[in-house]
Amino acid sequence: MHRFWETIIQPLLETLHPQRIVEIGADQGFNTKNLLTFCDQHDVQLEAIAPLPRFDVEAWQKQYGERLRVHRMLSLNAIPRLERFEAVLIDGDHNWYTVFHELKLIENRSAELGQPFPLVFLHDIGWPYGRRDLYYNPETIPEAYRKPYRKKGIRPDTSELLEEGGGINPHFNNALSENNLQNGVLTAIEDFLRATKEPLELIKIPGFHGLGIIIPGWMLEQNSQFSQRIIKLRPTLPLARHMEMVEEERLALDLQRQEREATIRRLDATVKRTEGQLTEEVQVHENAPQGKIPEAKMLQQRLVESTQALATVQARLTAFEHRKATERKALREEFSKVDQALAIIQAQLVALEQRKATEGAALQRELTGVGKGPT
Ligand SMILES: C[S@@+](CC[C@H](N)C(=O)[O-])C[C@H]1O[C@@H](n2cnc3c(N)ncnc32)[C@H](O)[C@@H]1O
Repeated sequence: MHRFWETIIQPLLETLHPQRIVEIGADQGFNTKNLLTFCDQHDVQLEAIAPLPRFDVEAWQKQYGERLRVHRMLSLNAIPRLERFEAVLIDGDHNWYTVFHELKLIENRSAELGQPFPLVFLHDIGWPYGRRDLYYNPETIPEAYRKPYRKKGIRPDTSELLEEGGGINPHFNNALSENNLQNGVLTAIEDFLRATKEPLELIKIPGFHGLGIIIPGWMLEQNSQFSQRIIKLRPTLPLARHMEMVEEERLALDLQRQEREATIRRLDATVKRTEGQLTEEVQVHENAPQGKIPEAKMLQQRLVESTQALATVQARLTAFEHRKATERKALREEFSKVDQALAIIQAQLVALEQRKATEGAALQRELTGVGKGPT
């Protein structure tokens, strides 16, 4: 409902000059904060009805003092206790029984207090809860008015809840059916307007799940500034249809977003579960006594040992090859030295042979010369 604050609710409240405003369904306090700022500026009292408020009530009460009163109870119990009020914002339990009786009690309490019927804003008159009940707490709804419901998601293209998951709001208690008697927020408003004798008008603003404004005739008659604003708010039929089409598009995109977020949450959970299982398995294996290590782990150990053994053998082989190569080199050098020595000896032999031949020839010549000389 807080999305309508700036454009619709605040401008109307400004022309109304209320003394007391009632908020039903404060939740996290988004709209409560807006209202409190407004109340501070215009000296107005705020009554916030919230069975389970999700904001720091004590801190806010300290900050705003008497300006804020929080009723931690259901709306149907709180309305009969209210003092004179001029405006009500309804955004609590989104089902026919609650909304119909909230309006009835507002009418009765107004009569008791002698005040005219107030200005009432109601959120969620569009899809999905305009024509389908949601029960925040099903036990608080009398059985005769409680439709069969389940915690299953909703899609705009089917009336059935989605059995196989997906859709929007799967965490809420959604009625199994829609578009039938005494079902949904808008149906409750229409049924109340048919039953009441008060001269009331309903303005429907499409978008952000739809806002309904119930305007009492006396306000239009007695407050011209207010009635000028209301004239500007009544959407023409083509404009209302156009806004509904934009809303349908927005809802389709929002549905996609919610379904993707749900898928991511599921995947995250699977990853966490698998991680947990793996951690457990590793711990079991690590803590298991030696004899009970599963076969796979034994094989893995053997593989490690075999690989280490193979590496040792390979290292030895490499060392052996290296040694052999070194020895081969040394031998080759040795052979080469012997070859050189042989070559020298051969050369000396050849030289010796030559000298022998030369000396032999000279001796021969000498001997021959001695026989032929003078006598
Ligand atoms: C949709 S939320 C309200 C959102 C709020 N108005 C905003 O604009 O942010 C509905 C709230 O109504 C409360 N709620 C449910 N049943 C209720 C009841 N019978 N009376 C009052 N509040 C009720 C829920 O606890 C929830 O916090």
